[in-house]
Amino acid sequence: MCGIIGFTGKRRAQEILLNGLARLEYRGYDSAGIAYFRDDQAHVSIRKTAGKVHDLRAVCDKDNESHCGIGHTRWATHGGVSTANAHPHRIGKVSLIHNGIIENYHELCSKYDLTSTLMSETDTEVAAALFNKLYDGDPIACIKKATPLFVGSFAFCILFSDHPGEIFAIRNVSPMVATYAEGDGAFIASDLTAFIDYSKNYFIVPEYQILHMTKDGIDLQDLNGKPQEITYLSVDWDVTAAEKEGYAHYMIKEIHEQPQAIHRTIDARIKDSLPYFEDDGIPDSLFSDVSDITIIACGTAMYAGMVGKTLMQNKFGIGVNVVVASEFRYERPVISEHTLVIAVSQSGETIDTLEALWLAKKHTEKTLAVVNVKGSTIARESHYVFYTHAGPEIAVASTKAYSVQVASMYLLAAKLGLVLGKTSEDAVKEFLDGLRCVPDLIEKTLSLESRASALTKRMINAEHAFYIGRGLDYTLSMEGALKLKEISYIHAEAYAAGELKHGTIALVSEGVPVIAVATQSGVYSKVISNIREVKARGAYVILISKDRKISDKSICDIHLSIPDVRDELAVFPSVVICQLIAYYASIGRGINPDQPRNLAKSVTVE
Ligand code: G6P
Repeated sequence: MCGIIGFTGKRRAQEILLNGLARLEYRGYDSAGIAYFRDDQAHVSIRKTAGKVHDLRAVCDKDNESHCGIGHTRWATHGGVSTANAHPHRIGKVSLIHNGIIENYHELCSKYDLTSTLMSETDTEVAAALFNKLYDGDPIACIKKATPLFVGSFAFCILFSDHPGEIFAIRNVSPMVATYAEGDGAFIASDLTAFIDYSKNYFIVPEYQILHMTKDGIDLQDLNGKPQEITYLSVDWDVTAAEKEGYAHYMIKEIHEQPQAIHRTIDARIKDSLPYFEDDGIPDSLFSDVSDITIIACGTAMYAGMVGKTLMQNKFGIGVNVVVASEFRYERPVISEHTLVIAVSQSGETIDTLEALWLAKKHTEKTLAVVNVKGSTIARESHYVFYTHAGPEIAVASTKAYSVQVASMYLLAAKLGLVLGKTSEDAVKEFLDGLRCVPDLIEKTLSLESRASALTKRMINAEHAFYIGRGLDYTLSMEGALKLKEISYIHAEAYAAGELKHGTIALVSEGVPVIAVATQSGVYSKVISNIREVKARGAYVILISKDRKISDKSICDIHLSIPDVRDELAVFPSVVICQLIAYYASIGRGINPDQPRNLAKSVTVE
């Protein structure tokens, strides 16, 4: 989704802006642009294009000496993909970039008579026109007047052409971080990745506070003019974590990073083979009177929640409801003060999840965020946070973030089971000792990469594919199908293997790929029967199971044997195979798996 970078300081701005935008490409976008003070004088120049950052680079001046500017990657919401709709937008003395949606832009247009000045179809340009209308030479006064008039979410970075070298910013909901790096200058961005080359320290721009950046520093004040303290955070990953390091794509790099990511997420939370959350500040009392659980999330995070549900409910008899966050708001939430609400999100910024969390907080004080990005909004808005430690995930298709979310579900399940007296310490110890083996399991599974790559050759011309399984294999299959859809554009659906015959089997014909997951011993023979049903109808069956060998050709065409693990842990190696299948299917179809069409990494609009 849209990306923001801004810089003012001692370095040349253009390279910082273009490199920052390149780092933000992972968020998903369709056009890009920059605005800067030409020759550091009181004149703002704009370069923008309906294309990628390398297209923008081509229309930028080679010898641009400017030391102050802002840049943006746009993911179209209001108005199509065109250069006119790309940011920055300039009206009069105001040039700005914007993430979010101004919901009342129609009303603002008519109330303040802005229509005649507009050249694009965007809500953002209306905001530029309004700032310009209210501007009388004092940027802070203008922002104070304009900001309360906007309804919606916004992160604005603004240049006023008669204030060279200065950047002003304000936000509501849409995230923005900033930093002052001694020797370089002041940076602002939609996320830290954009300026990680210059600083590992950053602060979250507080909502409704006006940020004023110059080459000498950053000031913050509220809308009443009261100066505000800046609280810096830092990250423990460096720039290499956000680079490909020799891999062809971020996605495959991140698939390979899963063993380490899981180590980082679980090791410190298992003490004497029992779950230990003291360092997270999560007390046992959070779990002690839990009657039921509601998990809210979107996309891959929601599918991690589905695995959590299957585990918690089946293993410990705890009732779990997983709700698509964007629907949660429109349902009548059946939650009480004893309901534990778990919001799962890699970015911690997904607006649907955030809105669902806000709603949940009206009913319970037991909200827990399972989030990857430190200090993100969902992390800050929840009563408790359980950070996953995947490190930065750049590829749009989530891989390592999913695995650590699932691992977190296992830890939470163990804690809940124990605190609620649903299981014994010995059982939990055995369970968590098994979890500790997961990084090795994944390492072993990664040795199947070349086989996964080879089998996708038969899939790349497919229009449809199906994933089937029962129990945990079914919930895991949902993530497998999503991965394939997202990056190969092959239509893929996951079905509970037993449900297939109630309709979907009508779609199975000669050569249709069916990825069958059969790792759960309790239902193994039933799944094999379901597989035979599709095989008999011509499906190209890829079987993922713990069997060492399957020689019966009436079962499958390809068999991928995962390491022999306890049933409940088979999700981890199985998902790695699903990720590899999706990755190589994408490559085989000539798609860049890191930047699939229409998708954004972090979805900050509803
Ligand atoms: C987008 C991404 C998905 C992701 C979902 C939830 O749709 O394309 O890959 O799973 O958002 O993101 P979150 O950051 O909340 O986990």
